[in-house]
Amino acid sequence: MFDVIQADLEAFEPALAAAVVSEIPLITDIGVHLVSSGGKRLRPALFLLAAHAGGAFDRARAMPVAVALELIHTASLVHDDVIDEADTRRGAETANAKWGNQAAILSGDYLFARAFKLVAEAGYDASVYVALAQLVCTLSEGEILQDHTTYQVPTEDVYYERIRKKTADFLETCCALGAAIGGMNPVDTAGLAAYGNAIGMAFQITDDLLDYRQTSEDIGKPAGHDLAQGFVTLPAIRALAVLEDAARTELAALIANPKKTQEETARALAIVRGTDGLDYAQAQADAYLARAQEALPAVLAPEIRETCLMAADFIGRREF
Ligand code: IPE
Ligand code: IPE
Ligand code: MG
Ligand code: MG
Repeated sequence: MFDVIQADLEAFEPALAAAVVSEIPLITDIGVHLVSSGGKRLRPALFLLAAHAGGAFDRARAMPVAVALELIHTASLVHDDVIDEADTRRGAETANAKWGNQAAILSGDYLFARAFKLVAEAGYDASVYVALAQLVCTLSEGEILQDHTTYQVPTEDVYYERIRKKTADFLETCCALGAAIGGMNPVDTAGLAAYGNAIGMAFQITDDLLDYRQTSEDIGKPAGHDLAQGFVTLPAIRALAVLEDAARTELAALIANPKKTQEETARALAIVRGTDGLDYAQAQADAYLARAQEALPAVLAPEIRETCLMAADFIGRREF
């Protein structure tokens, strides 16, 4: 999909692998496990694409930031899997399942620190550093907002605020940093940033949808996990808004119960799937993707624009 940045992505993999090496073998083992188990590399890809769009692309200069973005993403997933008590990710065992929570948390800390060290060593000015730090702050806020309201039903607006913080701001930062480093003017940088935010919203909505729609095998991480863990996402929020009294009361009680049996979780999933909740969530994701298209700056070279549109299309249809 990302032909424009194919050569960059090839240079990216060894740079990422080098960045997870520590003098402590356990940390290196965990890092190698994480970076070699796959992952879509969406964040560095968006960053590199935006950097090309600016017209002053310098691969060697851009690479430390591309690696830092993926390290931050990986670290946040490692911590997220501890919080979510998830045992699989990218079709492989999670760090917490394989090495325990303590090692997972510490190796996540290590990856965060390596990200910032890379960028500092590359001599970037403080604005880049601040943007990356802000992104970690925002992501932590999103995760904590979600974690302190488990088993409760948020309004749709609160749900959007949460996913903006968890995911959309991250993809926005990837685009904004890329555009700025690539030499794009501030107005067009803002357009690409808005594109990143909108596809980020769609990306998390589809992630939440896949938890209902797909099997664990399809997505390489536990499906049906959100409801079981008390994370009430858009399909369930919608279901509660449209169900008739008896079914709504039943679903609300199932959602609020922190000690659901597997059968009760399956029942709750079935109730949500029986409403238009999944279609509704898909329609919201599609609306964000339409906004993303509109936000793209007019000055983009045709092959860059085309790739941005393909990325949006992939997010709308993704099955993993
Ligand atoms: C997972 O992100 C976390 C979310 C924000 C939904 P990705 O789906 O980009 O994870 P990988 O890197 O491809 O595994
Ligand atoms: C997204 O949260 C992960 C972060 C933003 C750190 P989720 O819990 O929804 O993501 P998955 O489904 O585990 O990938
Ligand atoms: Mg999770
Ligand atoms: Mg989570």
